[in-house]
Amino acid sequence: MNKNTTVLTGDRPTGKLHLGHYIGSIQNRLALQREHNDLFYMIADVQALTDNATNPQKVRDNVLEVALDNLACGIDPAKTTMFIQSQVPEIAELTVFFMNLVTVARLKRNPTVKSEMKQRGFGENVPAGFLTYPVSQAADILCVKAGLVPVGEDQLPVLEQANEIVDSFNRIYGETFSRITPITPEKHMRRLIGIDGNAKMSKSLQNTINLSDDDATIAAQVKKMYTDPKHIHKDDPGNVVGNVVFSYLDIFDPNKEEVKALKTHYKKGGLGDMELKKRLTTILQELIAPIRARREELARHPEQVYEILHAGTKKTQKRAQETLREVKEKMKIRYFA
Ligand code: TRP
Repeated sequence: MNKNTTVLTGDRPTGKLHLGHYIGSIQNRLALQREHNDLFYMIADVQALTDNATNPQKVRDNVLEVALDNLACGIDPAKTTMFIQSQVPEIAELTVFFMNLVTVARLKRNPTVKSEMKQRGFGENVPAGFLTYPVSQAADILCVKAGLVPVGEDQLPVLEQANEIVDSFNRIYGETFSRITPITPEKHMRRLIGIDGNAKMSKSLQNTINLSDDDATIAAQVKKMYTDPKHIHKDDPGNVVGNVVFSYLDIFDPNKEEVKALKTHYKKGGLGDMELKKRLTTILQELIAPIRARREELARHPEQVYEILHAGTKKTQKRAQETLREVKEKMKIRYFA
């Protein structure tokens, strides 16, 4: 993959971003920003509305929040074009064309859609827009002809379906799009479990540590972390597997040798949860403090953030217009010069 391959990523603006996002996609976003020349970051407000149709203010408020989170983490608008999905109508247009290349049965089988539908308790009453969001996500990516997409592991089935759309489109209308390559975090970093030990960190489960949390909140969340329920006294031998504090140390503690020694000590007995949690608290506070500081600084001038998004949206729309001209030509629906 060369440096000029277009990169696109996005977030749904449904809440402030947390450490799960940081590990799952922001870090890859930053790595790609250092190496690639053509980058887009999208705030997926249309996608957020697919299961928040009755809650437009929440989506509206969180557009600014996720923009702040990404800028604070180091997304640089001089390198990465930041835009708002709803303001690029070409994406909606391309979605309509792609809709014909996908079956409802295939969408219902998509593992990501399936689990998200279950989580939301939709059953048969799933909003059509929600069921079909992988189609619109393919349009997000392909309207700028992106070839690389950094995402969390849970998004892989969505990108697989996008590649099926690429193949169908090319076969029917002629070679137009390249296949998309997902970039996921390294295996051991793939999924950050919640502080309660739940498989996923998620706002709806209230088991998150946010990138905007203050020191006291971080300390309180670490204190609540699930460890080993059988490790009651400091001298009891403790379990490292399934112990949230150790899972986090594995990911966030730069000193792997010391973590290894701590694990041995914990298993043998004699190492208390409090001491471990203190160590983790410090590590997370030091990680989040500079992000939070930049975030607070940026939040003082929301109009400047919107200006960044406006400029990025205009640039994205220009690119999308070129793609749509070609798409319509190929689909034989270009009637007027
Ligand atoms: N579905 C993604 C998520 O929930 C957000 C998203 C929307 C996205 N469009 C995208 C990610 C395009 C990558 C590329 O996190």
